[in-house]
Amino acid sequence: MANKRSAAAKKAGKRGIDAAHAAVEPSLHQQADSGSQETQRFGEIVPMPHGLSAKVAKQSVALLNQTLADSITLRDMYKKHHWQVVGPTFNELHLLFDKHFEAQVEIVDLIAERIQVLGGISLAMAADVAEETKIPRPPRGREQASVQLSRLIDAHTLIIKAARASAGKADDAGDSGTNDLLVSDVLRANELQVWFLSEHLVAASPV
Ligand SMILES: [Fe+2]
Repeated sequence: MANKRSAAAKKAGKRGIDAAHAAVEPSLHQQADSGSQETQRFGEIVPMPHGLSAKVAKQSVALLNQTLADSITLRDMYKKHHWQVVGPTFNELHLLFDKHFEAQVEIVDLIAERIQVLGGISLAMAADVAEETKIPRPPRGREQASVQLSRLIDAHTLIIKAARASAGKADDAGDSGTNDLLVSDVLRANELQVWFLSEHLVAASPV
């Protein structure tokens, strides 16, 4: 802090500003400073007072980050389809897709914050998520409602299978909190949402 202050004072001196003025001037563009570095690299685990070993925390963080990348992708796919859906079931699907989007927003936050609780770093930005997700990338353009539904269902099934497997691993490792999150919040919600979608793809459906 002292170094930062003296550096700011030096800069201020060069610009003819007094120290009191410099102390209240925002220090902008810090990410561009040559000395700017990450304070925790992705994949590194900070010891936290959760009572789990570093090995268990690291395993849970890795499992949760995969589910996070897939959940963020599914969340965003819901918004894409909410905007782009057309056809005789427009209103129904437009509203349903947004309802599921909102639920995925909450799930994403729960997973990301669990990762931080464990001392890890959550994936966050779209480019990083795109590199990690196992959900196939949809085209930029519009697809038929039935194709949108099928795409969403496949994404849910992928998340459900992974959540079930990861919950088992967390349980075996003694990480009850991660197990509970993956079962109660991720698995149960995704099972419910995939049921709502699947019932639109029966032969009698106008979709
Ligand atoms: Fe909307």
